[in-house]
Amino acid sequence: MSPIPRVFLYLLIMIFFIGYLDGRKSMSALLFRKIVTTYGEKYASAFAFDISENQETLNITLNIVKNITVDVWLRASILQKESKTHYKELFTYNINLCQVMDQGKSLSLINYWLKNIFRYTNLPMSCPIREGNYHWINLKSDKETIPGFIKSGSYRIDSSIYMREWHNDLLTNCSMFIDIKMK
Ligand SMILES: *[C@@H]1O[C@H](CO)[C@@H](O)[C@H](O)[C@H]1NC(C)=O
Ligand SMILES: *[C@@H]1O[C@H](CO)[C@@H](O)[C@H](O)[C@H]1NC(C)=O
Ligand SMILES: *[C@@H]1O[C@H](CO)[C@@H](O)[C@H](O)[C@H]1NC(C)=O
Repeated sequence: MSPIPRVFLYLLIMIFFIGYLDGRKSMSALLFRKIVTTYGEKYASAFAFDISENQETLNITLNIVKNITVDVWLRASILQKESKTHYKELFTYNINLCQVMDQGKSLSLINYWLKNIFRYTNLPMSCPIREGNYHWINLKSDKETIPGFIKSGSYRIDSSIYMREWHNDLLTNCSMFIDIKMK
């Protein structure tokens, strides 16, 4: 069973695709301000981000110490900053990353995002994920895929990767604080 109804997922993808067409010209900057991470020590020995001085690119290190022989799931939420201490959740999704990567030729926007993210790394875009030391070098946001309806402001993206079949054990957990400036 999928964690969210399929119809809803398609709706989300549609909204983002429309936003994609609409957003092409409008975003001028996405800046990474701060990134907080934790990881499951049974499965990883490092998970760290370095933000470049201009705050536009990231280097990421992920050392995996165990072959992950089950599917990995991604839970991600996007929250908008409303006041100094309060973030409002815009949406959350929960997907089987192995399944999505497997459908590599599908046209969904989630797949498009994943492909962008995997362009910068030595981690193969396939399952199972093997033990090893992985890096992302000079990872940039793909500005063209930020929906046009997103307003300038501060946001937080929470994401965790976990293994459902292994008691929902955590592989990685990360909160990214970002600023978006639209033209
Ligand atoms: C990221 O890695 C590249 C290649 O090693 C390096 O040139 C760059 O300075 C690094 N950036 C940061 C923010 O550490
Ligand atoms: C992890 O997988 C690789 C490739 O299949 C294999 O060579 C290696 O022995 C495995 N490691 C362990 C600890 O099982
Ligand atoms: C993930 O990190 C956030 C804060 O960055 C924390 O609130 C949350 O409890 C963590 N989740 C897990 C499963 O460790």
